Amino acid sequence: MRLTPAYVVSNGELTRDLRVEWREKFDDVDQVCGLYVRSGLLRPHHDPARVRKILSNSNAFVTAFAAKELVGFARGLSDQAHISYLADLAVDPLFQRAGLGRLLVQHFLAGVGDEVSVVVHAATGASGFYTKVGFELWENVFRRTRLL
Ligand SMILES: CC(C)(COP(=O)(O)OP(=O)(O)OC[C@H]1O[C@@H](n2cnc3c(N)ncnc32)[C@H](O)[C@@H]1OP(=O)(O)O)[C@@H](O)C(=O)NCCC(=O)NCCS
Repeated sequence: MRLTPAYVVSNGELTRDLRVEWREKFDDVDQVCGLYVRSGLLRPHHDPARVRKILSNSNAFVTAFAAKELVGFARGLSDQAHISYLADLAVDPLFQRAGLGRLLVQHFLAGVGDEVSVVVHAATGASGFYTKVGFELWENVFRRTRLL
């Protein structure tokens, strides 16, 4: 599904060719690893086989391309009927604080649909962002930390 183009500010310039799309599949490991590194999102970018598995077992994506470069990315798992997990959200530092993170979340929510609640585990320093974009902090959410 192609969504309407967005316009964001980067380095003080309006970027007119930003393409934001909802997808049920996305498998460009190099682009995703590059954005993991640039954004500082802690994911196993040094292990492309693991990232390939991460992408192939996910079913909810929003990509933002500026020209040929991935500059914004949301990834999650959704049953499309009741619950979703927003597992990755990353914006290239050149595009941060210009509304792109909010736009990715809006398109993710639109993609998974209104019947679905969305859970996210905020990275250190990102909790304030999720409050701004409409998420509530819940006390009774649990996790078992990965072993490897
Ligand atoms: C967190 C992140 C996705 C936010 O993206 P962004 O494009 O900079 O966010 P936006 O510009 O859409 O910000 C939306 C609002 O949240 C605020 N905001 C952005 N980042 C914030 C943060 N880290 N803490 C508190 N508020 C934040 C903005 O000021 C804006 O507020 P406003 O509506 O009052 O103007 C981006 O900073 C990022 O990729 N960080 C590194 C990776 C990361 O931590 N990802 C989260 C994984 S859980």
